[in-house]
Amino acid sequence: MPEPIEKILEHSRFIKSDLVYLLNTGGKERLELFTKAKETKATFVGKKVYFRGLIEYSNYCKKNCYYCGIRAGNSRYVRYRMTDSEVLEAVDYAHANNYASIVIQSGEQTNKAFVNKIESLLKRIHLQTEGKVHVTLSLGEQSRETYQRWFDAGAHRYLLRIEVSNPALYLKLHPNNPGHDYHRRLDSLKTLRNVGYQVGTGVMIGLPFQTIDDLADDLIFFREFDIDMAGMGPYIEHADTPLYQYRDKLLPLKERFDLSLKMVAILRIMMKNINIAATTAMQTIDPQGREKALMVGANVIMPNLTPVKYRQDYLLYENKPCLDEEAEECKSCLEARIHMAGDTIGYGEWGDSGHFLERNP
Ligand code: 5AD
Ligand code: SF4
Ligand code: FES
Repeated sequence: MPEPIEKILEHSRFIKSDLVYLLNTGGKERLELFTKAKETKATFVGKKVYFRGLIEYSNYCKKNCYYCGIRAGNSRYVRYRMTDSEVLEAVDYAHANNYASIVIQSGEQTNKAFVNKIESLLKRIHLQTEGKVHVTLSLGEQSRETYQRWFDAGAHRYLLRIEVSNPALYLKLHPNNPGHDYHRRLDSLKTLRNVGYQVGTGVMIGLPFQTIDDLADDLIFFREFDIDMAGMGPYIEHADTPLYQYRDKLLPLKERFDLSLKMVAILRIMMKNINIAATTAMQTIDPQGREKALMVGANVIMPNLTPVKYRQDYLLYENKPCLDEEAEECKSCLEARIHMAGDTIGYGEWGDSGHFLERNP
């Protein structure tokens, strides 16, 4: 006889079988899980949701991840790089609208010109906003020196998803070469931590070959790595990618979405004061996806600030929302969504991960 769910939810530290049980819950038990996550959020992070203005800086990428629409091998998209003034304009918008934080994301590029460009942009952003807009980077695997230079130039946080914590599964989802090495990715996460960043990672949920056991291990990975931030979302197939051949083997979208909600809820209960994003991929499946994520524990949302003319070329997956909405429309849309979820927006606040502050008083 397994323990009743009320007892499992009270465990001070979930073991693997607890996680598998929780990921498999349905009906009334599923709602109990969500209620516990909601209460945990209210107690440990409160009702405030933090905005991170998202700048999709460039879709050039040297990698060929089998799941991603902007992989180097896909020639369907026009490759772009935002100009300095476009970036600074987006930053201005964030500043003027009291978004205390932005995320600069891009396909992976490691050439000198790119590294220098990011460094100089970071310095200009710092000057232009008098240090008021904090910058998170999401620019893939880089050398320690590069991570250090960007940190010194003013970046505070870094997002690098492990994608899947099981090395054997990682190998099935990426080309088998040194440019796509699981251990190198893990080392990058450790380097980011050593340099001093608040470190965020995450996984995709509902990938081909992925099991509930893998997802339970992903949650344990987050706890063991002691992450500060998490961004997780459903895997959404893209017709121009190698993984598309397995589309018939995937869980239905609705189930991938539901598993993603459970992952958010369980992680909130496990790691009470980290920042967890309500990701755009969740809204791709369910029109209320992001509100639902907020209601079960997420506390960060990323309004898109990328100029509209580039958005259709930054499609990591299909049916991505907000392709035609200007920054202003995403802002009011998300304000409404956050209020519907019963939360408020932490305008003008950096919203650092409470977990990071605890470790670095
Ligand atoms: N479906 C969902 N998420 C994806 N990503 C890349 N491709 C897909 C896809 N097909 C995610 C990866 C990456 C992040 C920027 O986007 O997790 O780290
Ligand atoms: Fe490039 Fe990131 Fe897409 Fe991989 S997931 S192909 S690194 S943009
Ligand atoms: Fe962009 Fe809703 S968040 S339109």
